[in-house]
Amino acid sequence: MPSTRKAYRAALLHSLADPAEVGIEASYEYFPDGLLLVENGRISALGAASDLLPSLPADVEVIHHVDALITPGFIDTHIHLPQTGMVGAYGEQLLDWLNTYTFPCESQFANRAHAEEVADIFIKELLRNGTTTALVFGSVHPQSVDAFFEAAEKLDLRMIAGKVMMDRNAPDYLTDTAESGYLESKALIERWHGKGRLHYAVTPRFAPTSTPEQLTLAGQLLGEYPDLYMQTHISENLQEVQWVKELFPERKGYLDVYDHYQLLGERSVFAHGVHLCDDECARLAQTGSAVAFCPTSNFFLGSGLFNLPMAEKHKLNVGVGTDVGGGTSFSILQTLNEAYKVMQLQGARLSPFKSLYLATLGGARALRLEERIGSLQPGSDADFLVLDYHATPLLSYRLKQARNIAETLFVLMTLGDDRTVKQTYAAGNLVHQR
Ligand code: GUN
Ligand code: ZN
Repeated sequence: MPSTRKAYRAALLHSLADPAEVGIEASYEYFPDGLLLVENGRISALGAASDLLPSLPADVEVIHHVDALITPGFIDTHIHLPQTGMVGAYGEQLLDWLNTYTFPCESQFANRAHAEEVADIFIKELLRNGTTTALVFGSVHPQSVDAFFEAAEKLDLRMIAGKVMMDRNAPDYLTDTAESGYLESKALIERWHGKGRLHYAVTPRFAPTSTPEQLTLAGQLLGEYPDLYMQTHISENLQEVQWVKELFPERKGYLDVYDHYQLLGERSVFAHGVHLCDDECARLAQTGSAVAFCPTSNFFLGSGLFNLPMAEKHKLNVGVGTDVGGGTSFSILQTLNEAYKVMQLQGARLSPFKSLYLATLGGARALRLEERIGSLQPGSDADFLVLDYHATPLLSYRLKQARNIAETLFVLMTLGDDRTVKQTYAAGNLVHQR
């Protein structure tokens, strides 16, 4: 294989650590005029253009983006493929929303052609928004996950997904059984887990829609293969929390249900966690589990405000999730815009560098993939973005008033969206160009 080397010149910014742990200044690295060198799908160097250009071999093409910022690709730690067609469904909170809108929409994925059509739209939408890695719920149908992985594999994307397991409290047309859910998940794991940059996540929807038998088998699956992920929902909505208490009276609380069935661990990601208590945060942190903070969804479904300071107190791994279709945007920039407001409503702040961390390195740590993605460190996969300072007239005008990278970053997160993403690269390949 001939080596493919390219260099990208622009402002460069990436996270080095969690600002909550090291302070803001030590949490990032910024080169106002930087150079990113990419070789064979990996980042091989980054630094100031003035330092790197003189020693760059003459045959390396340099692509120069003026008034642009290169960042790592964004990581969406919670999203639903089969809800692409129901973003913005009116009027309900979680449990009625599921019954009224979600389940009928997901039922269409019994049809393989439909699954393929939506997988294509979904992946294009992720890339248009700068999301290069996502932790994805399929529907109950294994073909939803096959369609997604086939499309992701063609572009050599780093993606994680799983078929929903749900064997009760949902319409008959949308349930599996404890046994079929186990066997179908196993077949998908055999087909996809570890293939290229793809990973499998065991996906019990949430405690109310799985019998104890199904949760037992989900825990068993996690023990059968190395490095499997587990994704589910937790403590999103007060009615839901109450329902779980009624369904599992013998357990101490919602998290204890998952704990009992051995679903906590270093590759377990729990979406929402709006109503978690202090002890539950401590237990999540102790087991190395992570939470996906989903602000647009939590506002849209009226679920509540995620307590990020409490998670920080426990050093709990947190990433951000769009939770499309409960969430209202595929844009991680817009998700960070709403995350800021969640903190404002709790009398707290969300610095732009913490937001950058959550969307990149923090998400990678939540997924235990920080050696591969989430930063521009040499050796990482070349999954990165070119953000355009002139994406819209207002952004262009507003950024002229920004005095430093902190202000620039915050304005990108406040005014930015898919239009801001000029290019998206995955494994060094251009996979989206605005
Ligand atoms: N809880 C169980 N299923 C879902 C879902 O599809 N979306 C959200 N937001 N919460 C859930
Ligand atoms: Zn969800």
